[in-house]
Amino acid sequence: MDLRFSIVTCSDTRGLDEDEAGAALEELIRGQGWSVASHVVVRDDEQEISCAIVDAADERHVDVVITCGGTGLSLRDVTPEATRSVCDRDVPGIAEAMRAYSMTKTRRAMLSRAVCMQRGGTLVINFPGSTKAARESWEGIYDQLEHAAKMTAGGGH
Ligand code: MTE
Repeated sequence: MDLRFSIVTCSDTRGLDEDEAGAALEELIRGQGWSVASHVVVRDDEQEISCAIVDAADERHVDVVITCGGTGLSLRDVTPEATRSVCDRDVPGIAEAMRAYSMTKTRRAMLSRAVCMQRGGTLVINFPGSTKAARESWEGIYDQLEHAAKMTAGGGH
């Protein structure tokens, strides 16, 4: 089954050319035979992030929006708030699994406030922003994404 993704990297300092974590996520997605419909970099700004999520979900109709970065504890980290502001339902297990797996790699994983939520038929998942953190977080959840996206889109088991 093809899954279509959008990547929204949230960073005040990176442009698309410097977005190593986003590029790594693109490679991991394509490695599963899935596709990347769009990849943008926006500033750590709640409005910009939520607009990018809405665009991916409502205009591109992707199965999964991955945000990358802005999940930490500094005041500029607003990705979870932006996600909550435009999503309907929480999917806590995916964020829990990401953190649980990541904690086997580094105890710093507890410092990510990442959430996973649904906006209509689209799953929105926050990833932490370093390349290492993004790769490890992917490892912790990717095997359940096909089933999760199918159910989010209205399918049964
Ligand atoms: N998760 C994994 N798997 N590996 C990591 O190295 N780094 C943590 C955490 N999650 C990390 C991780 C650190 S140091 C921070 S500050 C938070 O993610 C938030 O990162 P972000 O602000 O880039 O989203």
